[in-house]
Amino acid sequence: MSAKNKLHSSQFHPLLRKFNEQNVDILPHNLMYPIFIVEDDSSQQVIPSMPSVYRFGLKKLIDHLTPLVELGLKSILVFGVIDTLTKDETGSNADSKKNPVIKALPILRKKFPELLIACDVCLCPYTDHGHCGIIEDGVINNEKSIERIANIALEYARHGAHIVAPSDMMDNRIFAIKSRLIENGMEKNCSVLSYSAKFASGFYGPFRDAAKSIPQQGDRKTYQLPAGSRGLAIRAVRRDVEEGADMLMVKPGISYLDIVRDVKNEFPEYPMFIYQVSGEYTMLVYGAKAGAFDLKTVLTEILVSMRRAGVDVIISYFTPNILEWMKEGSF
Ligand code: PBG
Repeated sequence: MSAKNKLHSSQFHPLLRKFNEQNVDILPHNLMYPIFIVEDDSSQQVIPSMPSVYRFGLKKLIDHLTPLVELGLKSILVFGVIDTLTKDETGSNADSKKNPVIKALPILRKKFPELLIACDVCLCPYTDHGHCGIIEDGVINNEKSIERIANIALEYARHGAHIVAPSDMMDNRIFAIKSRLIENGMEKNCSVLSYSAKFASGFYGPFRDAAKSIPQQGDRKTYQLPAGSRGLAIRAVRRDVEEGADMLMVKPGISYLDIVRDVKNEFPEYPMFIYQVSGEYTMLVYGAKAGAFDLKTVLTEILVSMRRAGVDVIISYFTPNILEWMKEGSF
């Protein structure tokens, strides 16, 4: 048999291929499912820019999560979205009694005692200007912003969040949150997952529609990282580590895998998260719908490459699909 033919015959045991892969398995605990909660318990709202993703009222959310938990869902990342509550300069409704996340937390904890619940902490869904901090004289006031964000994080922790995940990228917010949790004896109940390397990205477009958090003026470039910067990214991560972050995140996912590798090499002892964001989700959904590729094949390749880059947990809107495929034994 010629060498050429040999290449075409599959004589390698599949396990030999497996031996050459690092730890790239994807199991339920490697997935975190992002969800949007609205005020009205019985509503289920279509998000036009995100096919098959909905904003749920608490009752509908429980119906949605119940079969997923049975399929092995281990963790969720919760975003609040408000319809009738007012938005103001300081995002008062981020932690008011009527906030949908505050109301849902104790009920979800009771209903799904094994489920790990992370809460996104940010002002943008609750401010009238749609920015992630408090604005004074046309610019973000960092001090006031991180004070406010720390208070919101504490409220979520008090209501049962296992993890608070600040997504604002204001300077020194991790220290502010961690100190506030410690002062109130909550640091053992609630960990801090920092969106530590969050880039200013066009891939967030559909999310801003979903969370109704489009900035009224300007953009988020003053507080999110420039796409080209590896240096700023690792400095931002290092600062979060020094300030007491328990877990680290790179966001968006697919275009930032080199950053993941940098971070994992530098801080191997920290759980590493990646957020496969809304634009990455829609890109794949529309690509597959148009017949350009098979969704499961391409998604698997992307998730494996995230694991290969050093990711421990992938935050993905595809989590329900993946759990279904796992059940069928086709993933
Ligand atoms: C809010 C926030 C954003 C996302 C998560 N938290 C949007 C933004 O920064 O503009 C994006 C998530 C996604 O696109 O799926 N600070």
